[in-house]
Amino acid sequence: MTMRRICSLDELVDGAAVTFEVDKHIVAVVRIGDQVYAIGGRCSHADVALADGDVDCDTKQLSCIRHGSAFSLETGVPSTLPATQPVPVFVVEVRGDDVFVSDQPTVNPPTTSPRVKRAES
Ligand code: FES
Repeated sequence: MTMRRICSLDELVDGAAVTFEVDKHIVAVVRIGDQVYAIGGRCSHADVALADGDVDCDTKQLSCIRHGSAFSLETGVPSTLPATQPVPVFVVEVRGDDVFVSDQPTVNPPTTSPRVKRAES
């Protein structure tokens, strides 16, 4: 795994998400205060840019703009339907004023979130 510089910390707006391409991965990068998070940039429910959604700084979640599923910035797991699958999580390092993101995601958590229940059929 290699860390790639994506921008300076000052370029990230507190409480907002931005899409970056890190090698072949589309990544949504979010700054909350001095913390920076990076998760897969495409919603696991449909092909929608997660960085177009809203950031909840208190719960550390990024909501999909289309149907509202909220993804944890720490685990990638959705806490609300309709998305049931996690998105990848990337390692972030802030070195001085430079922000680095891993060129490979970390291993995803189990594919079914215990906080998301499937509708009975
Ligand atoms: S496209 Fe993201 S929740 Fe449906």
